[in-house]
Amino acid sequence: MKTYKLGVVGDPISHSLSPKIHNLFAKRANIKIEYEAYHVLPSNLDSFIRDFFDDGGRGLNVTLPHKIDCLNSVDELSSIVKKIGAANTLTRLRDTNQIFADSTDGMGLIKSLLEARINLPKSSILIIGAGGAAQSIIHGLQNRHPNVIAIANRTKEKVKPLVNRFPPLDLDDVYPNTQVVDIETYLNEWDVQGFTTLINATSANEELDFNWCESLPIEGMTNFYDLSYSKLGETTPFVKWAKSQDTGATRKIVRDGFEMLIHQAALSFEVWTGIKPDTKITKAELFDE
Ligand code: ATR
Repeated sequence: MKTYKLGVVGDPISHSLSPKIHNLFAKRANIKIEYEAYHVLPSNLDSFIRDFFDDGGRGLNVTLPHKIDCLNSVDELSSIVKKIGAANTLTRLRDTNQIFADSTDGMGLIKSLLEARINLPKSSILIIGAGGAAQSIIHGLQNRHPNVIAIANRTKEKVKPLVNRFPPLDLDDVYPNTQVVDIETYLNEWDVQGFTTLINATSANEELDFNWCESLPIEGMTNFYDLSYSKLGETTPFVKWAKSQDTGATRKIVRDGFEMLIHQAALSFEVWTGIKPDTKITKAELFDE
């Protein structure tokens, strides 16, 4: 049986759950993989990527801080990568031998939101954070036709450049052509209906860090989604904060990003092997030590 040479590259990398996730996928799909975590400094990234694929590598996940710089070492970009300027999945294409960069983060999030029964068409989404994590999910969300995606960030100057990256998509009249706006414009210029979903795309790591969000219009909000995830038995600061908020909503859904992690990995696995893996993985299976 053929063995797929796969891996993940980052700095740091020891915390990565990707090797365990992909090995579980492979076991369940009954195929052989060799999936390694590689600690590579930014200065060595280019030569590492080239050597990895020259040595027979089929696929490489890319994590922080290399998601943008890895694009210097590839031959082709997917349409999503062209749009967001970052990648998490590199593949050696069999027919052309070229290295192809794609991003599965946005689609991983969408799958996870759907699984949590968080409705997107015609919804109103507020994202907090204006860094790379926010950048990697906006296009995917825009494609699910919410009415609006507003962005709020602690440092206000970072919001406008991000918003400008995502003009409305050129669509037909069937769906709303989602506008991405900064929160101030939304509050000042729109006929504000409030938001349905709040997504945390910050790297804030204290519950107190989210107190500024109380000045945001979260009244009536029903869905809270954290792109970060916590270990088994622990809670992310955002999830803890979100649970403590009385928004007046009768139904409140609060989730961390664990399912998104599994789904973005599954999409990479499928690109490399052609197999849709079984994504029913629990925290207990990954955090066993
Ligand atoms: P990433 O690529 O993971 O998104 P990043 O580009 O460094 O990382 O962006 C981190 C995001 O988390 C930013 O939006 C940052 O806000 P600032 O632009 O104001 O720095 C946000 N963030 C980090 N720590 C935070 C905190 N304690 N409170 C609020 N926002 C925070």
